[in-house]
Amino acid sequence: MTRAVDVRIVEVGPRDGLQNEPWALPVRQRVLLIDALSKSGLTTIEAGSFVSPRRVPQMANTDAVLAEIQRTEGVSYPVLVPNATGMECAIAAGAGEVAVFLSATESFSQRNINCSIAQSFDRAAAVIALAQAHDIKVRGYVSCVLGCPYEQGVPLSAVVRVAEHLYAMGCYEISLGDTIGVGRPEQARAMVRDVAASVPREKIAIHFHDTFGRALENVLACMEEGVSVVDGAVGGLGGCPYAPGASGNLATEELVRMLDQLGVSSGVNIDELMDAAKIIKTVLGIEPRASQSRRRI
Ligand code: HMG
Ligand code: MG
Repeated sequence: MTRAVDVRIVEVGPRDGLQNEPWALPVRQRVLLIDALSKSGLTTIEAGSFVSPRRVPQMANTDAVLAEIQRTEGVSYPVLVPNATGMECAIAAGAGEVAVFLSATESFSQRNINCSIAQSFDRAAAVIALAQAHDIKVRGYVSCVLGCPYEQGVPLSAVVRVAEHLYAMGCYEISLGDTIGVGRPEQARAMVRDVAASVPREKIAIHFHDTFGRALENVLACMEEGVSVVDGAVGGLGGCPYAPGASGNLATEELVRMLDQLGVSSGVNIDELMDAAKIIKTVLGIEPRASQSRRRI
């Protein structure tokens, strides 16, 4: 049974976080992190991705990760898939949820997934058809919503078009990704308002990388616009290998602390979450970005 919360947090650390580390972690370490996160009350934990292992070696062996994690009742473990090939791997690995990831800009689409936005819709359609045939939920990401590493300025209309299309195609939730973390609260608000004209507010999630330390204020602004699903990565890890200059994601523990202080329920226990955060340093040997910048861990 799913508990009612004011804000649902989607933990992306084991995917977005680890995909950007300089080396690929062994499967058992990825599993250890996910299992620790599963104890914290999070109900969605991205477990990895089925992408080209040549392009993102850090995410190779996601099938083994899915096989070894201790699945907790009520927790979903989505994986990213870019195309039908990835979707077939996700089905074979027993994934119960997947995420497709498209871009609002042509340049990032080409660099990240080697196709145009139009082609990426066709790929997403193939993924969604397979997912529906196997009763698998599909989340949709839109990257570069407030800035692109390769283009100046991102028209809001381009963000709306991709979000609207993905929702109409059958994604149950649309996560709006500030991939390089350049957004400001007033821009984030305007984006939510415009996207909400075609995607219900309760189906909009936000995904802020924290390059300039504005992720929390951006989240607050979006919450004031009625958004209730927020992505975070434990330890503030994260980034995209194809988005140079982008920093880690909003640290999940900073998000939980802010929500706790505001009296907004997320269902996440900060102490258990911090146990998972400690694993990043002590077991995985990674310096959590949140602790480097703000000495929280
Ligand atoms: P491609 O080169 O266009 O694919 O790659 P292709 O169909 O021409 O195939 C080329 C080779 O890749 C073939 O192998 C395929 O079998 C293989 P070969 O014959 O050369 O040995 N291949 C695959 N292997 C494994 N899994 C697959 C797969 N598909 C093809 N699914 C592709 C297209 C998308 C696969 C490639 O460009 C890729 O893997 N890109 C990496 C994308 C990625 O993981 N980016 C990071 C995640 S996105 C992100 O972080 C943003 C987000 O956090 C939100 C935000 O912050 O904005 C979500
Ligand atoms: Mg990201």
